Amino acid sequence: MELEVKLSEKSYKVVLQRGILNNINSYYDFNNRKVLVITDDGVPSIYSEKVINQIPSSYLLVLKQGEQTKSIDSFIKIQTFLLENNFTRNDIVIALGGGVIGDLSAFCASTYKRGIKFINIPTTSLSQIDSSVGGKTAIDFLDTKNVIGTFYQPEIVLIDFDTLKTLPSRHLYNGLMEALKMGLILDEELFNIFKQNEYLTRIEEVIYLSIKRKIEVVQKDEKESYYRMILNFGHTLAHPFESINNFENILHGEAVASGMLYMIDDLKLKKEVYRIIKTMNISLVKDYSLEEVFDYLVNDKKADTNYINVVLVKNVGQGQIVKMTYEELKERIAGEKDELNNW
Ligand SMILES: NC(=O)c1ccc[n+]([C@@H]2O[C@H](COP(=O)([O-])OP(=O)(O)OC[C@H]3O[C@@H](n4cnc5c(N)ncnc54)[C@H](O)[C@@H]3O)[C@@H](O)[C@H]2O)c1
Repeated sequence: MELEVKLSEKSYKVVLQRGILNNINSYYDFNNRKVLVITDDGVPSIYSEKVINQIPSSYLLVLKQGEQTKSIDSFIKIQTFLLENNFTRNDIVIALGGGVIGDLSAFCASTYKRGIKFINIPTTSLSQIDSSVGGKTAIDFLDTKNVIGTFYQPEIVLIDFDTLKTLPSRHLYNGLMEALKMGLILDEELFNIFKQNEYLTRIEEVIYLSIKRKIEVVQKDEKESYYRMILNFGHTLAHPFESINNFENILHGEAVASGMLYMIDDLKLKKEVYRIIKTMNISLVKDYSLEEVFDYLVNDKKADTNYINVVLVKNVGQGQIVKMTYEELKERIAGEKDELNNW
């Protein structure tokens, strides 16, 4: 399966295929180029072995797994490596891993010598479904997530569904929340795969349809001027939920799961989404202070002075960006919290 991302800056392909790790050199010419493969120590080493064995001049950098690797220290480490090994703009950086490795490697590639070629090989459901497309690169800085970053597009994205076989189920479900989100806001067919409890047996379709929808959104609004905000469904509250928990004991998708329930206007649909979330053993975020959530929101980059844009869903596949005052949002959350706490 193949998809194409057509952007003003450049166009590139997303190739989705079981076993593609065994023949990446059929999709890109690695001859006469140095290639730095960046991965982390949680990604099974069999994957990096397969990749480097196909590249004549390859280098491997294995970083520590976890969000803390998306740091200025890792940035310095990678830039030092590239410079000391005389990488030029014609050489390549490959990210082989989840969103942490993808965001960090792409950011390094976008800044080294004002932009070196970058290839993304995402190996988690989250990075395949969500971060493989859209060009957002980032590192975290001074306890703020994704605060330093660029928009930068890869040469190609290669997705091997087989890598998901080794992914722990908690991480698998974490990424699937972004697909459930995509179905709710934009694609009834995708949502129905979840509704019919077929999201594991039809995971290839789930990933394909999610990326297809994300491409459509990104092509309409590359730099998030307005329409791309639709992808923030469930995220308005997910970000404070993660922050309040200091990003510990809660994964992004798990926070999105709770965040989405607050923004569904139809009770029957809300109950259906809750049922789906429970099939993945995801618990709702319950013990939090409304004041803490609002302190975070007021300081968040998505907020302007009196209003905040949130995404609501009433009917499947028809997400809507709605401008609300903070007071209106607070009232909504307080009401929903009372109800959801009893579920
Ligand atoms: N750029 C974007 O558009 C975008 C979108 C969403 C999220 N993100 C970012 O993505 C990051 C989260 O990504 P993530 O959920 O992939 O987390 P992650 O990169 O930390 O990966 C999760 C864990 O899975 C391990 N792993 C990776 N592939 C594996 C495999 N195939 N088998 C077994 N283990 C494997 C990793 O070592 C890690 O321990 C966050 O930093 C977030 O900000 C970026």
